[in-house]
Amino acid sequence: MDLWTLSDLCTPWCVHVVATLRVADHIAAGKAEIGQLAAASGADRDSLHRVLRHLVSKGLFVEPAPGRFALNETAQGLLGESGRLGLDLDGIGGRMAHSWGTLLSAVRSGKPAFHEAFGRGFWEDLEAHPAIAASFDALMGPGHGVPDWRVLVDAADWESVRTVVDVGGGTGALLAEILRARPEVRGTLVDLAGTVARSGEVFQAAGVADRVATVAQSFFDPLPGGGDLYVLKNVLSDWPDGEATAILRRCAEAARPSGRVVVFTGAGPGEEASPELLMMVLVGGRGRTFEEFREMASMAGLEVTAVGRQASGRVIAECRTV
Ligand SMILES: C[S@@+](CC[C@H](N)C(=O)[O-])C[C@H]1O[C@@H](n2cnc3c(N)ncnc32)[C@H](O)[C@@H]1O
Repeated sequence: MDLWTLSDLCTPWCVHVVATLRVADHIAAGKAEIGQLAAASGADRDSLHRVLRHLVSKGLFVEPAPGRFALNETAQGLLGESGRLGLDLDGIGGRMAHSWGTLLSAVRSGKPAFHEAFGRGFWEDLEAHPAIAASFDALMGPGHGVPDWRVLVDAADWESVRTVVDVGGGTGALLAEILRARPEVRGTLVDLAGTVARSGEVFQAAGVADRVATVAQSFFDPLPGGGDLYVLKNVLSDWPDGEATAILRRCAEAARPSGRVVVFTGAGPGEEASPELLMMVLVGGRGRTFEEFREMASMAGLEVTAVGRQASGRVIAECRTV
């Protein structure tokens, strides 16, 4: 592949734009002609036409007659909310796309430069923009990776679990699944105030609201104690090593003496961690190999006692305090 093809930004931006304008949904609703499509999308007819013709040349959409567009298999992926969530420039997709513009600063400094584009760090930006935060929650929620409540390696171990604390648990999709599957278990959701505030409907919909406590706090502060199980899913990869170790240490402190900490690690023993450059530009996070995770857990006062894989393929590590 030549350098120009490798570096051309035109196609990715065109994909983001048609996703944001919901062009696929408008076509599916019968608005195939470019004038109708532009009107339905709130777009300039000529500009949208040029963008769509570029995408047709790249294999997204087809133009069966001049000025008329139809979905092909690839374009079907843009239908509905879940398909376009990560691409919507008006939502979290815009934050992710624009953050690539800060890559050079991140590479020069070794630190995330998200604030250069948005005036504050990623998490502060979400707290300041509830609509963007809600689209991030939706991206993290069931559509992004269906939660699997079997977070313990040995199913029989659930018999001893009465309280689960989901640390950085988002709006509670995983905790709701756990509580739905285990009626004897009570749960605590820990996350930032804005996120916790959006969890109510998740727990209501799952019919478990009466067994959940929500705690709006930072996971860098002491966590609610006394839980049998502390869960960290999609959290450690958001942070550099020092902060990730500090979060694990807070879990270890709260889990003492007999609680367990279950971590979704990203990579299993002997596997390579994905480079996760998006984590680097957004939040300064990183993927870690299992051995790196084990070392970090040990520094935080945790010992890995079991390793398993969920149905989704995600690796989970069960840790106990030492
Ligand atoms: C990548 S999301 C993962 C959410 C959820 N565990 C999941 O897997 O869907 C990371 C979560 O960490 C939360 N978070 C970020 N900084 C935090 C902090 N200082 N204290 C508590 N939660 C925080 C975010 O609000 C977000 O819900």
